[in-house]
Amino acid sequence: MTQPKRYLVTSALPYANGRIHVGHIAGAYLPADIYVRFLRSTGRDAVFVCGSDENGVPITITAEKAGISPQEVVDKFHNANAKAFAGLDIAFDVYGRTTSKHHAGISQEFFTNLFGKGHIEPRTEQQLFCGKCNRFLPDRYVSGRCPNPECNAPGAKGDQCEVCGRTLSPLELVEPACALCGSRPEPRETRHWYIKLGDFQKGLEAWLATKEGWRENVGRFCKGWFKEGLGARSITRDISWGIPVPLAEAKGKVLYVWFDAPIGYLSFTQELFASRGDPDGWKRYWSDPDCALIHFIGKDNIVFHAIVWPAMLMGHGGINLPSNVVANEFLNVRGQKSSKSRNWAVWIEEYLAAFPPDPLRYYLTTNAPEGRDADFSWEDLQSRNNSELAAVLGNFVHRTLAFTEKYLDGVVPERGTLGDLEKGVLAEAEAAVKEVSAELEAFRFKAGLQRVMKLAQSANRYFDSAAPWKSRKTDMAACGTAISVCIELVDRLALLMYPYMPGSAARIESYLARDPKQLPRQWSAPGNPPAAGTKLSKPEPLFRQIEKEEVDAANAKLG
Ligand code: MF3
Ligand code: ZN
Repeated sequence: MTQPKRYLVTSALPYANGRIHVGHIAGAYLPADIYVRFLRSTGRDAVFVCGSDENGVPITITAEKAGISPQEVVDKFHNANAKAFAGLDIAFDVYGRTTSKHHAGISQEFFTNLFGKGHIEPRTEQQLFCGKCNRFLPDRYVSGRCPNPECNAPGAKGDQCEVCGRTLSPLELVEPACALCGSRPEPRETRHWYIKLGDFQKGLEAWLATKEGWRENVGRFCKGWFKEGLGARSITRDISWGIPVPLAEAKGKVLYVWFDAPIGYLSFTQELFASRGDPDGWKRYWSDPDCALIHFIGKDNIVFHAIVWPAMLMGHGGINLPSNVVANEFLNVRGQKSSKSRNWAVWIEEYLAAFPPDPLRYYLTTNAPEGRDADFSWEDLQSRNNSELAAVLGNFVHRTLAFTEKYLDGVVPERGTLGDLEKGVLAEAEAAVKEVSAELEAFRFKAGLQRVMKLAQSANRYFDSAAPWKSRKTDMAACGTAISVCIELVDRLALLMYPYMPGSAARIESYLARDPKQLPRQWSAPGNPPAAGTKLSKPEPLFRQIEKEEVDAANAKLG
């Protein structure tokens, strides 16, 4: 397969109704950021798009429960979440908002276009209505027991059971109750507009069949949906917060949040290019077949990204379909699903108040929920940080640079003849670049990072065998050669670390007396390590130990 010319990479738009926690980051944000940094390190043009999902029931319920307006909710969390991402060095090119005027217009255009082509039709139907609150109860306004006989869990929401993952409609819930007042709602007639997904089933199946190398979870999920047959899905709601349905006969109704939200990927790209004074620039990323569209999501979003959204795009026409939908499983916290209401979550804001970004980026990657659910614990983060990140990678970088500083006046020494040990470890560093590339190209973030760490281990072994602290007293030339080789290894490790831990890679660049603003360095032509005679900057340890007291304090905040 020839490589696409450009990449448009997205992370699922988080609802602006709550803070970001480690489960979000491990699912849709950190892998996407690593991928974009990798693309740019390998000479490819990528645009990275995300933003706040600010419409719909999740926002209005939060507002009603807190007694504030939906606008106040989204303003607060949009800013807080943008800050959390930036704090973790997750660097979107644009972080938009689905309450923008432009986004509303584009979403209405999609609706009008699909409606005009006959892919959207109205239906009169029964919906749950709360007499006490005097309103319809779409989606999460109702909760009850899950109708899936194998699950039956209480607390299922009108749109989905979070225990078994099944998507639901409010009328299916057993013993439904109004989420606002708790009373029992009754069905009432209303009219809604449906997208006829059946129109696209054949096309979607054919399109998915051409996709190779997708993660197994997405394909499995879609096959299940195709087997049941794609029906029509309601794309309008009876609430007062959102994008008005652009039809005279739908007065007072808004677009379903899952109809407008993915359009945000497109509308935010347009806003980005407009702000750069290149209003047609977005077309190079959305309408040119030579651009790959790659969505990073959590597994609860698969149906929307692999079925509904591609169907919308097919119906709309003139816009690329996704090249890949990269879905992660869930990251639980000490064996339990993250939950806002029980405060069972590790909030990024709190993490960043105590620690720098890279230990978390490291831990969430080595412990990524790539093929199955994974589990977060502070003890585990501590031990990965202390015994791997600091003890292996950080130790090698620091012992090399500190030795140079202390015994060689911080000046890169001359390199003499290389022996087998030296040749071996340098060859391994060269091979690592190819191997890490191959893993990242295939979205195997965890395996790529393991490969980086393996190189750091070999580098430490080399340092131990070369023992420059001995040769310094007996054979200065051999000592210089060893340190010169180690500095080259530090340089290569920084190169490979960059997508995973850009902040630490930048610090190494500055210790090596280079400008971190030059990042990313190109993996195909990484350039030479600092030449003999270069005066390096004074190094600080790259990572510090995380202490037991810090783990205890963090655990005390849970639940
Ligand atoms: N807000 C949704 C969630 O948190 C994700 C929306 S992704 C998008 O589950 F594609 F719709 F933008
Ligand atoms: Zn009620």
